[in-house]
Amino acid sequence: MTARRVDIRQARIRPEVQAGQTLLEAALAAGIPYPHGCRSGRCGACKSRLIEGEVELLPHSRFALTDDEKADGLILACRALPLTDAAVAWLGDDETDAAFPSRRLTGVVTWLEDLTHDIKLVRIAPQDSETLHFSAGQYAQVSFNGVPARSYSMASRQGDDSLEFHIRRVPGGATSAHVHGVLRIGDRAELELPLGSSSLRQHHSGPILCVAGGSGLAPIKSIVETALAHGMRQLIHVYFGVRAERDLYLGAHFQALARQHANLAFTPVLSEAPSAQYRSGYVTQAVEEDLADLNGWKAYVAGPPQMVDAAMKATFALGLRREDMHADVFFTQDEPLTPVRSVTVETQ
Ligand SMILES: Cc1cc2nc3c(=O)[nH]c(=O)nc-3n(C[C@H](O)[C@H](O)[C@H](O)COP(=O)(O)OP(=O)(O)OC[C@H]3O[C@@H](n4cnc5c(N)ncnc54)[C@H](O)[C@@H]3O)c2cc1C
Ligand code: FES
Repeated sequence: MTARRVDIRQARIRPEVQAGQTLLEAALAAGIPYPHGCRSGRCGACKSRLIEGEVELLPHSRFALTDDEKADGLILACRALPLTDAAVAWLGDDETDAAFPSRRLTGVVTWLEDLTHDIKLVRIAPQDSETLHFSAGQYAQVSFNGVPARSYSMASRQGDDSLEFHIRRVPGGATSAHVHGVLRIGDRAELELPLGSSSLRQHHSGPILCVAGGSGLAPIKSIVETALAHGMRQLIHVYFGVRAERDLYLGAHFQALARQHANLAFTPVLSEAPSAQYRSGYVTQAVEEDLADLNGWKAYVAGPPQMVDAAMKATFALGLRREDMHADVFFTQDEPLTPVRSVTVETQ
């Protein structure tokens, strides 16, 4: 197969894509800041519209690209092998276009703290005290002492001296077990950041819905604190879904923020252990009960795949536009991919 030329509408150059190379690999090699995250068809951050031409799509998760989206002409750049010369445009807006390019750096663990029985706060400072550029809601690939690199969302704000992460212990998990059992202050960490495109859109002036499940509160904390610090005055409603009271954390922090900022509401919801103090049920049920029409809202959602799936269904049914959903699915390595079968998307 010969090399193909791909016209990327937001870039000024048309990179050549070699046989066997994905569109994303070719774009990044050409220095184009193409939005991306996992590079493995799992997160959806590189979702793009195929405007012209034909591509073969490698296996990907159903969260990254649904069948409906595929039928609508959307592709994943990290899974797309161009079969012809083609034209594509990544999804997103001007604010995504301005995203910071990702880079690798070394950091040092400066703080460890148990937030709950299975979530640990980890602070990492860059070794050279350099400034860390990222947008609220983005994540990093982090590896400690040779354990496999995994994705963790920044809970801190751009400009802070260190990065804050909330890491949940996953049964049978390699890296989270290391964080919970072995990691010590002073240990080194290798990081690649920033990644992901589910970041705060600061030009949006309509109401904001945030839905977090478990350690999904990390990117939501960064988004909410950044929005408030930038003087965003619209309603920001945070729903925090956990199983039981022992899984709740940073409740006092968010309540204090809500007392300082009249536009912020914080609603914890317990799914498995009813309590007189908190709402019970699934977090998405609480959203459905409270909110009637999400047209004109933006939604930021982060947490386990099932919760993100339910939040998408509920919010779209309430009128949220697809382009206003910014979701981070905390998938793990055992997340199933579509069968190993290539799909061809062809424009009319
Ligand atoms: C964009 C993004 C952001 C994220 N942000 C956060 C965050 O802020 N906080 C957070 O806590 N998590 C976050 N995650 C999840 C995180 O990246 C890890 O997936 C999680 O910590 C588990 O990693 P692990 O190495 O401990 O587990 P893994 O070793 O990856 O194992 C995960 C599960 O898979 C099973 N498993 C492992 N290998 C196999 C196999 N070969 N076959 C079948 N099953 C297997 C394990 O038993 C375990 O149940 C995020 C994920 C993404 C994609
Ligand atoms: S970068 Fe393509 S799906 Fe994650």
